[in-house]
Amino acid sequence: MSVWEKHKIFETKSMVLLIGTLITVSIGGMVEIMPLYYLDTTIEKVEGVRPYSPLELAGRNIYIREGCYNCHSQMIRSLRDEVERYGPYSLAAESMYDHPFQWGSKRTGPDLARVGGKYSDDWHVAHMIDPRDIVPGSVMPGYPFLMKTPAWSGNIADDMRANRMAGVPYTDAMIATAETDLQAQANPDSDGAEAVAERYPKAVVRDFDGDPEMVSEMDALIAYLQMLGTLVDFSVYDAAGSNLR
Ligand code: HEC
Repeated sequence: MSVWEKHKIFETKSMVLLIGTLITVSIGGMVEIMPLYYLDTTIEKVEGVRPYSPLELAGRNIYIREGCYNCHSQMIRSLRDEVERYGPYSLAAESMYDHPFQWGSKRTGPDLARVGGKYSDDWHVAHMIDPRDIVPGSVMPGYPFLMKTPAWSGNIADDMRANRMAGVPYTDAMIATAETDLQAQANPDSDGAEAVAERYPKAVVRDFDGDPEMVSEMDALIAYLQMLGTLVDFSVYDAAGSNLR
């Protein structure tokens, strides 16, 4: 019996073909799924990536609440045009503490993965209040109310606990000081300001919205925007095989 004749069994008996297909596909599935059971992590650790500070986390919650992800992605693909426009492509580790991640799927506006440090706080305040003041043709909605609403801080410790359950390494000390840290990050002259920068390396401590009276949702959102993509130092990071830098 030639090989072709043996193969005829599969081609003429549909059940044999079905079972043969299932066996072949399940081998492929096992090769992909089994390693996940014994590998601790599939994300390569990268120096500099840390959990969000309480103020940044509050800002991230506003970003999600307002649906910014409907128009903005946070994922720079490893394609030349993207890297030239937005900077080094996004690393898996950069969103390892994002629950849920904010990669997005649509770009009505530009990618925001590395918007941190690109503009001044004043620019962001003016742009968030009325985007058309800054970019005349912009279709982005204004969010002027963020200036008037105090940043949600009452449950920020609970939020951090929930993140910890999902694997974010918040310590007990970080959770205990969550509310004071949130206030201090937007009050550079306050007692706790230095401690924030120690607990959360590279955290920017500033009065983001220019209103010292109140830590507003605007403070939180801008604190978040200003840290996006700034944690990894790409002057020393070198992904193996990367020639796009
Ligand atoms: C309807 C779609 C839409 C929504 C919703 C939206 N944006 Fe935008 N965004 C845009 C567009 C379009 C631009 C480009 C024009 C401009 O700068 O206003 C932009 C620009 C920006 C920029 C400047 C980016 C750069 O690199 O120049 C930032 C920062 C930004 N948006 C943040 C936000 C945040 C934060 C939210 C949620 C509170 C948000 N956007 C919601 C459409 C949107």
